[in-house]
Amino acid sequence: MKVFVTGGTGFVGSTLTRFLAARGHEITILTRSGPRGEARQGMRFVQGDSMKPGPWQDEVGGHDAVINLAGASIFTPWTSRARRMILDSRVLTTRHVVDALARAPGGRVLLSTSAVGYYGGRLDDTILDEGSSPGSDFLSEVGVQWEAEALRARDSGARVVICRLGIVMGRNGGALAQMAPAFRRFMGSPLGSGRQWFPWIHEEDLAEIMAYVLEHSEISGPVNCVAPNPVRNREMTEILARVLHRPLILPSVPGFVLRTVMGEFGDVLLKGQRAIPRRLQEAGFRFRHPTFQEALVSLLSG
Ligand SMILES: NC(=O)c1ccc[n+]([C@@H]2O[C@H](COP(=O)([O-])OP(=O)(O)OC[C@H]3O[C@@H](n4cnc5c(N)ncnc54)[C@H](OP(=O)(O)O)[C@@H]3O)[C@@H](O)[C@H]2O)c1
Repeated sequence: MKVFVTGGTGFVGSTLTRFLAARGHEITILTRSGPRGEARQGMRFVQGDSMKPGPWQDEVGGHDAVINLAGASIFTPWTSRARRMILDSRVLTTRHVVDALARAPGGRVLLSTSAVGYYGGRLDDTILDEGSSPGSDFLSEVGVQWEAEALRARDSGARVVICRLGIVMGRNGGALAQMAPAFRRFMGSPLGSGRQWFPWIHEEDLAEIMAYVLEHSEISGPVNCVAPNPVRNREMTEILARVLHRPLILPSVPGFVLRTVMGEFGDVLLKGQRAIPRRLQEAGFRFRHPTFQEALVSLLSG
């Protein structure tokens, strides 16, 4: 397949595009800044700003599929300007991708990213599958608007899959790169009550899931891209310390401290979602890294 990818230079996109290219797909990556790193076989770069319409949209029609990952980082103080950028970079990019698809109709597939934050930051143990309702906090609002924009592509005949990503655990970035250094310096600890759920996914399983939904034309609509065994924050902390051979010596970080230091973003760490991959399991998808301990060992060893 010829696959057009927004956000393909990022943490998730780098692993995914390498994986898809290795499977024989031809990848075009849209980036604001030109090629990064070594050029690989089966991959090319197109320059453009996905927040604005532009000549890059003419490229979309020559592809069988679009994977839409672009979005400004949420790991920043949530000033009103930052919130605007978090929302607009996702919603406007998706709008322009969908407009480009509409100009080139005919049997294409759009895999558009969302996040389990769609279900809202929660402290309860409710199991969340693709039929669960959205929450009402900022990230839920982002998810709702982001997904609505992507679903417009159905009007021009595209198959639309909404990939609601959990927290991606990978080798070269993301949450693990933020957490591991503190644990290595004996400074890891649970956050708040430690009871909040941590819906995670190994980067290799995520790449497999995206390839799977690309290749399975019967799948459309929302798909929770999470491992089948979410863990609570306290368990996640204990496993990470164990895998890194470090004792947990510090007490939990009180919630009010996190909120004081990080503002509203602190809530993202103090709350969570007990999300499960119901649709993938029903479709028969097999996870290579279903448990957190094994996933961490695979990522941190060697
Ligand atoms: N990582 C996770 O655990 C996780 C969890 C849930 C959801 N997600 C979602 O998955 C997507 C990819 O995540 P990631 O961790 O790979 O993010 P990332 O490493 O920060 O990469 C984001 C990508 O988006 C592009 N981008 C950044 N700011 C942009 C802007 N203002 N306008 C247009 N493009 C912009 C960048 O491309 P260029 O700089 O090359 O243009 C970059 O390749 C994001 O939308 C994120 O919200 C990630």
